[in-house]
Amino acid sequence: MDTTDQIAYARRILTEGGLVAFPTETVYGLGARADRSEAVAKIFQAKNRPTFDPLIAHFPSVASAQDWARFDDRAELLANAFWPGPLTLILPRVHRDGQPRIPDLATAGLDTVGVRVPSLPLALELLNGLDFPVAAPSANPFGYVSPTTAQHVRDSLGDRVGLILDGGPCSVGVESTIVDLSGPVARLLRPGGLAREALEQALGQKLEWEGFRAPVRVEAPGMMDSHYSPAVAVEVFDDVSRLSARATALDGNCTVLSAAPLPDVRSREAVVLGEGAAMAVALFATLRRLDRPGTGTILAVLPPPEGLGLAVRDRLFRAARSRVS
Ligand code: TXA
Ligand code: MG
Repeated sequence: MDTTDQIAYARRILTEGGLVAFPTETVYGLGARADRSEAVAKIFQAKNRPTFDPLIAHFPSVASAQDWARFDDRAELLANAFWPGPLTLILPRVHRDGQPRIPDLATAGLDTVGVRVPSLPLALELLNGLDFPVAAPSANPFGYVSPTTAQHVRDSLGDRVGLILDGGPCSVGVESTIVDLSGPVARLLRPGGLAREALEQALGQKLEWEGFRAPVRVEAPGMMDSHYSPAVAVEVFDDVSRLSARATALDGNCTVLSAAPLPDVRSREAVVLGEGAAMAVALFATLRRLDRPGTGTILAVLPPPEGLGLAVRDRLFRAARSRVS
């Protein structure tokens, strides 16, 4: 099948209530029509995801999203500035005939919904031909590292998805930045592929943020602390000399991840990820590739919390913290 046929097939599966994995610029998503609970339920089953963790609804345009979620001035400003792109807005749900248009199963019973317009042309083309939004979490088993290639999806969910659209490797590589605009204060819920600084500049104010979360804490729907964790142990360091000492203590039975080369550190393998956006693009694919016994312990240098470094730091903390408890 060529791409046009694949997209037509994907739209048919979605329309009939089935699952399709598709690429976005951030990570691959596992999609189902967002307006039907029976379809959305299949996502939770396939991922083994708890139903108190709500999903993001994907749209082809700002205008289409406005039929399903209520935008205030701040939301319009951010949507017009950054969509299509790696930004998710949490907004009040729109109701029609006394019913929410996005069902409770997709929002975990919250009266808000996460909405996003992805920028990858293949995703936009898929969404454009549909008269409903597509609910999609990252296409990984719950708690595992998000997929940034079609092969990653095949590796971990291949037997559970009707169709995997292949759009090549994702260009951003970490999930969208999530901003909660459902209340009076604009809050950053998840650092991601759009830099916090760019959002604050557009809004003309700081985003409230509770910072890197403590391990595994679930307070309310939407507050799930996902792990992004590989099976191998991950340890993170701000201080390179501490990392080096740890590598020595491990007799070099480790793999080191850093922005730039660290010549004096003993390790089985040293992976140089580059700075900022380059680090974000490579992070998940690297964690997946290294998730095998020969790796030893992964020792990672944390990037500074600026630009996309904030998201990379967050994902490394999460990958590491699940080992701590
Ligand atoms: O880049 C992305 O955002 C990818 C691609 C596929 O679009 N999707 C993604 O979805 O990362 P997921 O489900 O893996 O992460 C969505 C996060 C979850 O942590 C969820 O708790 C939060 O968004 N979320 C969704 N709806 C929410 C709501 N109404 N209130 C608060 N948090 C919400
Ligand atoms: Mg996810």
